Amino acid sequence: MRRAKITIVGAGNVGATTAHWCAMAELGDIVLLDIPQTEDMPVGKALDLMQAAPIAGFDANITGTTDYEDTAGSDVVVITAGVPRRPGMSRDELLATNAGIVGSVADKIKRTSPEAMVIVVSNPLDAMVQRAWQATGFPSKRVMGQAGVLDTARFRTFLAMELGVSVEDVSAMLLGGHGDTMVPMPSCTSVGGIPVTQLIEPGRLAEIIQRTRDGGAEIVSMLKTGSAYYAPAAAAAQMVEAIVRDKKRLIPCAAYCDKEYGVGGYYVGVPVILGADGVERIIELKLNAEEQAAFQKSVEAVKKLVATMDSLVTTESL
Ligand code: NAI
Ligand code: 2OP
Repeated sequence: MRRAKITIVGAGNVGATTAHWCAMAELGDIVLLDIPQTEDMPVGKALDLMQAAPIAGFDANITGTTDYEDTAGSDVVVITAGVPRRPGMSRDELLATNAGIVGSVADKIKRTSPEAMVIVVSNPLDAMVQRAWQATGFPSKRVMGQAGVLDTARFRTFLAMELGVSVEDVSAMLLGGHGDTMVPMPSCTSVGGIPVTQLIEPGRLAEIIQRTRDGGAEIVSMLKTGSAYYAPAAAAAQMVEAIVRDKKRLIPCAAYCDKEYGVGGYYVGVPVILGADGVERIIELKLNAEEQAAFQKSVEAVKKLVATMDSLVTTESL
């Protein structure tokens, strides 16, 4: 059977670490691409990773390039190209720069890998997925964003730390955009099957939810020169795995919602079934009034960002 071809655009912290996780899980052959100005950097990182194979014991061809021709016919493309935020910056401040980058990357992918599944990681995430979808013109189920897997992983980690239990037993769900308005869902969160609300009192749970919302900023404030990458990359690799192994994972992703949740044609974080056909189904949860209001607020924030992006695209030909 032919191995999957996985291209990762942007060989920086998230891109190279995604390649690492994908290689360790033997998800396929990997092409790491960056801009020509980086010269041999992606080639060097790919070679370094290949030389880990005899030690780590994985079989995968890993190559680096600055030429899209080398990515031709990819089954999955992960877009991590762009600039990360620095302390004090919001994800939204990356909008103009990254919209231009993601638009041009998506345009090249459309030409070289017309059948690919596209997973966007660049920030501000929800707007960047919309941009990639616009620029590729691919069916919406083939373009998606990574955020919910990371945000729920942060929520699960904090809950496991609080309760002193294995993170394996913590299951959680989260909705909305990848930003300050994200909506962790205690009603869909359990520990060993026990609703989290029976294990942690409301005030403390609210604090953990807030720490989850601030999870990215917490890491940025400590790293200072960039943002998180181990967990974001592991999250992207889990999405690649769901697709190349047709796992039908039920996980939160930024997916295109039109009638779903009454969103009206935007990418936002919702639970989906992810498999070989991409976003195969969007799961519509019954939200209580408080959850509905929080989700609506998050969707409005995404819409505002997309409107700003669309005006930049029109006026500046991003
Ligand atoms: P980084 O600066 O380490 O790497 C970015 C790479 O993109 C650089 O190597 C750069 O040369 C490359 N690049 C820039 N323009 C490009 C282009 N046109 N084509 C190809 N490559 C290009 O940044 P890092 O930490 O890897 O973050 C990447 C992006 O991912 C940022 O926008 C960051 O905010 C976002 N991010 C999103 C997360 C999420 O959960 N959705 C989590 C973590 C980061
Ligand atoms: C994060 O949440 C920066 O979006 C990135 O860590």
